[in-house]
Amino acid sequence: MGEYRITGGARLTGEVTIGGSKNAVLPILAATVLGKRSVIHNCPKISDTYCTIDILRGLGCDVGFDGHTIVVDARGIASHHLPEDLMDKMRSSIIFAGGLLGRFGLVVAHYPGGCSLGDRPIDLHLEAFRQLGALVEEEGQVIYARAKKLAGARVVMKKTSVGATQNAILAAVLAKGTTTIENAAREPEIVDLQRFLVAAGAKVTGAGTSTVIIEGVAELGDVEHTIMPDRIVAGTYLAAGAITGGHIRLNNVVYEDIKPIADRLADAGVTVTLEEKAVALAAPQRLAAIDYMATGPHPGFPTDMQPQFTAMLATAHGNSIISEKVFDARDKHVAELAKMGADIRNVDRKRFHISGVQRLHGAVVEAHDLRCGAALILAGLGAYGETVVGNSIYVERGYEAIHQDLQALGADVKFVTARSQNNPKPQDI
Ligand code: UD1
Repeated sequence: MGEYRITGGARLTGEVTIGGSKNAVLPILAATVLGKRSVIHNCPKISDTYCTIDILRGLGCDVGFDGHTIVVDARGIASHHLPEDLMDKMRSSIIFAGGLLGRFGLVVAHYPGGCSLGDRPIDLHLEAFRQLGALVEEEGQVIYARAKKLAGARVVMKKTSVGATQNAILAAVLAKGTTTIENAAREPEIVDLQRFLVAAGAKVTGAGTSTVIIEGVAELGDVEHTIMPDRIVAGTYLAAGAITGGHIRLNNVVYEDIKPIADRLADAGVTVTLEEKAVALAAPQRLAAIDYMATGPHPGFPTDMQPQFTAMLATAHGNSIISEKVFDARDKHVAELAKMGADIRNVDRKRFHISGVQRLHGAVVEAHDLRCGAALILAGLGAYGETVVGNSIYVERGYEAIHQDLQALGADVKFVTARSQNNPKPQDI
């Protein structure tokens, strides 16, 4: 547990390479329970990856992590019970339920960890299991799902959910017959999950569109896969470049995946240019306000970039409005940014009216969740004086070494192990 100390003012320049995606590696690791031996390259060394490995080992998988490559041998799985303490740490642990149910016809799970972004139910996940023929029962916080053999079905998602789409796909891979998921989420991470599954022998098509079709197969085999680059890490560094009026280049970025972010950066007066497997950013000295923008499921603007953009627009010229349309209460960064001099009015926790100030000032602030922490680090980069961002534990869930990457771009950011801090429970994002 530590804190970040940032002395603002430097215009970022130079280049960094973006690593593997958190939101792709977690479901793909969960998918390994369906197969035999999986070799997965480009895995980010973040705490959520380690937590997911703990779950795999708890189930009886043999897991090695060397460099950025994880090897999972799932042939020895001996349990269908997802441990409560690990599920409490990480919401995405629920994605194990679909794979275990699909492979063994049985899973015992717990309601995943407390929620920092407002209400985050799992009703869509459980409904998908039921539509595939599972009997799902809940006793307090424990979930029991069983089925002799899942049967392919038409699964209609009432609401677009990344996690529920992934869980439905994983449950359907070994089911008897064909499953059609309608109103599926279209996030690039679901496309990466499809790539992994197809390479392992599954028959999945349509990921990236709102209809995913899965033809059940008898079993999956060995597979080797490379995790896609993290578009949210890339977006965070682009926002860092923008907030400092910088000129930076990010290698290993899929432009299509970050286009919703690049388009909004253009609205703020920033130029993002596509290069071969890279993007270059050139920002003006002061950004323009964005009259109105809203988050939404892909290809909308990602909610995981909303806190960083709120920080970025806090010093833009003019008034901006950001509407958070995915989560009910993703606003913890707002009060922290106010400590740094930001002028943000928060309407019903989902709509932020931002009056751009000339500059923020350094302050002692706290990360309350992963992207809140990232937003505060960015705010510190653009502020006068020193900013201390506490509770690094949240940031470490999703950024392998944010301080080192920003240092490489010329920022003055130090990671310091804190002497005494309270011990918050990590919350999944
Ligand atoms: C994933 C991402 C997270 C991102 C989010 C939205 C991972 C590990 N996490 O989270 O970083 O912020 O997508 O892009 O990939 N909902 C229900 N019932 C359900 C499930 C979801 O009502 O059963 C609601 C949620 O409360 C939320 C919305 O659907 O309002 C979207 O959530 P969802 O797409 O499921 O997010 P996650 O998969 O948890």
